[in-house]
Amino acid sequence: MSINKFFRCLLAIILLLVTGCHERATDLEQVSYEDRIVIKFSHVVAESTPKGQAANRFAALVKERTGGRVEVQVYPNSVLYKDGEEMEALSKGQVQMIAPATAKVAERYPLWQIFDLPFLFFSEEEVHRVMDGEVGRQLFQMLEQHRVKAIAMWDNGFKQITTTVPLRQLEDFKGIKFRVMPGSGVREGQFRRLGAETVPLGFNEVYKALEEGMVQGTENSASNIYSKKFYELQPYLTISNHGYLGYVVLVNASFWDSLPEDIKVIIEETMEEVTHWQREVATKQNAADLEAILKTGKVEAWWLTPEEKERWRQMMMPVYRDFENLGGSRLLASARRELELEY
Ligand code: LMR
Repeated sequence: MSINKFFRCLLAIILLLVTGCHERATDLEQVSYEDRIVIKFSHVVAESTPKGQAANRFAALVKERTGGRVEVQVYPNSVLYKDGEEMEALSKGQVQMIAPATAKVAERYPLWQIFDLPFLFFSEEEVHRVMDGEVGRQLFQMLEQHRVKAIAMWDNGFKQITTTVPLRQLEDFKGIKFRVMPGSGVREGQFRRLGAETVPLGFNEVYKALEEGMVQGTENSASNIYSKKFYELQPYLTISNHGYLGYVVLVNASFWDSLPEDIKVIIEETMEEVTHWQREVATKQNAADLEAILKTGKVEAWWLTPEEKERWRQMMMPVYRDFENLGGSRLLASARRELELEY
């Protein structure tokens, strides 16, 4: 071995030892004197969606504000980890940041199902009151105890129902198999109360499951229905706004603790700014994507009247008791206080 090669090998071994000694993810090929920090940010939706756009914007701003010292690598569309894998990958430090739907966090921490309770929220403003208030604080603390740091809550929007078969009245739910996000008894419960069946599936599996007839129904926001083209397979759309789809941005706590203070400040401030922006984008995009779906001419849409909403709500109400039986009474009481609800 030439002397040159020997020194190069030695340098590589030293770098490996040094970078292996702390929790920070560093991109070995890029390791430089500034000790670049790499944050792998994995998510499951398209880049064009509110979450996808916000992840990219966050990455660009952090890079700019840290002078390239922090590189946020965004992996959209389940290309790195899919539903069911993301939370584990985060706790093992295989990725440093994820932004799962609150429902998916509920797979490990069931009280996160509070955001899935049907007809709990009637506007984004109400959702934000709960996310950013006492309930959000309690949920964040719960994660902190498990070494998961929650740094923001992002929006998608209210969920609508899409089906391959006509659905015009409550009785039509009978016999329809609905895809539900894994990890929540509340969502399964709400459909079962309406007489439907449920099949928990990851987001990446939904299109194929619809194509193969494994499921006929799904619930999702307009931006997800549009970006994944579910409307091509499901010509019936019910504008029900029965539940809410939101996200929590999570960071591996050991990784977070290993970051220099100045970097933490930049990340937190940038995240706050992006969260503000993301919520505005989400509202506008869901409205625009609903328009776009209707304009395709491929779906027949049905808007629930206030009376129908009330009937659906009554039928789904028992899932509130299920949530309380999971130990959610206090959290639900806090949410009701924040929302000034009587029921
Ligand atoms: C879904 O699985 O339907 C959604 O949670 C996907 C997402 O992250 O918006």
